Amino acid sequence: MSRFEPVSGWLQQDRKGHTLPQGLYVSEEAFHFDAEVMLKSVWLYACTVAHVKSPGDFFVFEMGSNSIIVVRGKDYEVRAFWNSCRHRGSKICLEQRGRAARLTCPYHQWTYGLDGALLAARSMTEDFDKRDHGLSPVALENIGGLIFICMGDNPPPIDRVRADIAEQIAVYDLAKLKVAVQDNLIEDANWKLVMENNRECYHCDAGHPELIGVLGTYGFGKGLPDDGVDDVVDDSAYDALVAAKREEWRGLGIDRDLIEFPEGWWHRVARLALANGAVTQSIDGKLACQKLIGPFTQPETSSLSVWTQPNSWHHFCCDHVVTFSLTPLAADKTLLRTSWLVHEDAVEGVDYDPDHLAALWRTTNRQDCHFSSINHQGIASDGYRPGPYAVEEKLVEDFKDFYVDRAKAALEQASA
Ligand code: FES
Ligand SMILES: [Fe+2]
Repeated sequence: MSRFEPVSGWLQQDRKGHTLPQGLYVSEEAFHFDAEVMLKSVWLYACTVAHVKSPGDFFVFEMGSNSIIVVRGKDYEVRAFWNSCRHRGSKICLEQRGRAARLTCPYHQWTYGLDGALLAARSMTEDFDKRDHGLSPVALENIGGLIFICMGDNPPPIDRVRADIAEQIAVYDLAKLKVAVQDNLIEDANWKLVMENNRECYHCDAGHPELIGVLGTYGFGKGLPDDGVDDVVDDSAYDALVAAKREEWRGLGIDRDLIEFPEGWWHRVARLALANGAVTQSIDGKLACQKLIGPFTQPETSSLSVWTQPNSWHHFCCDHVVTFSLTPLAADKTLLRTSWLVHEDAVEGVDYDPDHLAALWRTTNRQDCHFSSINHQGIASDGYRPGPYAVEEKLVEDFKDFYVDRAKAALEQASA
């Protein structure tokens, strides 16, 4: 694969405990390699079941030149198909989200069922068999309501992720939620920098005054019991807070130990105690929706967070869920899609105000967008040299190691 020779060279230069070589962040070669090879070899988070709540609801997930339709069938199954018509290849769904009784290609109106079967194609030869021209499926896994897709031919194992995530998020019952707000933010930074920024709170004290007022900084890489970081960082105050909370969590059946990227796997799950008496992740720590979700009958001062490599993170609160996915658009452009979910019966303007619901993470996203962008600009300079991660940046290193491992494996497979 001579086209990706530079990428192979940069991967060889990667140094343990340090940021990546410049080319892997800023070059066109690395962008194409990521979008066409590496990211096709892994599971990517696309959306939740609440984004495709009813039969006919579709959600289009795009990465590089690829476009995938996630759609709920009449049988309530959620499936994924390539967004490319089996006639002459036109894109079929042009909207990012929508609802349709059938999927009709806008070019010559070939029409597909929600299960991908070709239903109508005018003026074809007599020997044309519709059964041979259904939409091409894409691998999809529903993990407790989080939809993951894999565009490659050999999706990697996902069973441990399912076992560790599905049961813990099941109590929030994503199928009973609805999408109240969705933001699409385009960041001027490579997708790996947006991910790295997400995996540490080393920048939170100075960068996110609103966020740390509600979440504190523990659990976002700064240190939790058993993750190896708390020996270095003094988190005794947080430990005491959690110790006081665990009994309450046990009563609700939601007390679990930290799961942190088990060997070779790509997920982290942590229940975090909120700071300063906050009952949810909102700008003022007050309920963002009056209709509570899951097992909660009264406000509860913790949230469950799930992080997956290489493109998502999610926070589950007693009154709403917020989920984040990112996809690379160009070497220096990344789409961060944030969705806020509330109880399906919650009424806008009565139970929740969309602006209040979204304010905390909207503010935080804008701050992070700035950090990722100046990070990218500095790395693009001739003066850049890979720098060392701090102890508090252990989860950044976990992400980087995942990237390098999977990139090397995908490169090898593509060259074979
Ligand atoms: S390309 Fe879709 S109907 Fe012709
Ligand atoms: Fe941040």
